[in-house]
Amino acid sequence: MNTVNYLRISLIDRCNFRCSYCMPEAEELAYLQSQETLTDTELLYLVRGVFVPLGINRFRLTGGEPLLRRGVVSLVEQLVQTPGVMDVSLTTNGYLLEHMAADLYQAGLRRINISLDSLEAQTFRKITGRDQWQRVWAGIERAHQAGFDPLKLNVVILPGVNDHEVVNLAALTLERAWHVRFIEFMPIGNTGYFDQVGWVSSEQIRAQLRAHFGLTTGACFGNGPAEVFQLPGAKGTVGFISQMSECFCDRCNRVRLSADGLLRPCLLNESGQVDLKTLLRTGVRTELIQQQVTDLLVLKQDIHFKERDRGHSTGAYARTMSQIGG
Ligand code: GTP
Ligand code: 5AD
Ligand code: SF4
Repeated sequence: MNTVNYLRISLIDRCNFRCSYCMPEAEELAYLQSQETLTDTELLYLVRGVFVPLGINRFRLTGGEPLLRRGVVSLVEQLVQTPGVMDVSLTTNGYLLEHMAADLYQAGLRRINISLDSLEAQTFRKITGRDQWQRVWAGIERAHQAGFDPLKLNVVILPGVNDHEVVNLAALTLERAWHVRFIEFMPIGNTGYFDQVGWVSSEQIRAQLRAHFGLTTGACFGNGPAEVFQLPGAKGTVGFISQMSECFCDRCNRVRLSADGLLRPCLLNESGQVDLKTLLRTGVRTELIQQQVTDLLVLKQDIHFKERDRGHSTGAYARTMSQIGG
């Protein structure tokens, strides 16, 4: 049985970008009301009273865009200082990093993942819906200067949109100790777009890199979904998150908490999810909440990615990536 020790906490369902692979273009998403979102106090209570005692002691903050949450720096600081918390990390679109990187580092955050789907301003705009390549790049540089390590860049490769940039994006790792991860486009959030453009497999990308740089070396798995390689002589690494071409459920170490307090066992499966917000707000005892979470962890072993096609084919999976937290 795989140990689950990692929780992805979505701090907010809103995002200031409109990445084509994440959200439907035209529709306005129905955002949560602020009273529906777990407060800092509730989150910290769950971390201290429920997750850490159950052995879940690594936390990744996601969104939407997590840096849009008011008071996020102070929340990071409190999380980092919580006894028993072993690791706190954050996944961001980078838009606010230029201003916030130093404060986040100061608050104790050390690990950051930033989406960067292109090195070309035009293509970046096409993918994210925002003309903000310069600002995001400045944010990445600021995060690097602040000392974030590891610093990971997430690239979703879209056929005919940014697949011509694979070599240039991987080349970032030659001179910088950054970790560039190529992510296979998944049919969540904007399934219409997925049907239209399709996806590129990690193996296709690796073939391009092999042809260009010579063989990449040293495949290994970290503690997450990425399979990690290195270009010859590079300071950083290139990783592949291959949820379409490969099933990595057998090494899945994580569960997810949505901004409105739903604990779900898997990105693509919400079976048995626990409504922690309601349990908290109706005064259910901590031990009983712990028991429900334990039950979910047991159930998780049987359900996760095995049913990955279900959401797409039946439309049963209603939430976008920005609402789940990636
Ligand atoms: P670390 O391993 O802690 O660096 O985090 P990560 O790579 O899991 O986090 P990040 O937020 O950067 O996510 C990168 C990509 O991996 C996103 O596209 C996520 O949707 C995807 N991902 C993360 N966890 C899972 C998972 O459990 N299942 C699937 N299918 N995809 C995941
Ligand atoms: N397929 C694959 N990755 C996605 N992300 C968002 N939507 C999708 C999708 N449909 C990625 C973003 C971000 C991470 C949290 O999830 O690029 O880096
Ligand atoms: Fe893009 Fe992330 Fe925002 Fe989705 S949540 S639109 S992937 S920046």
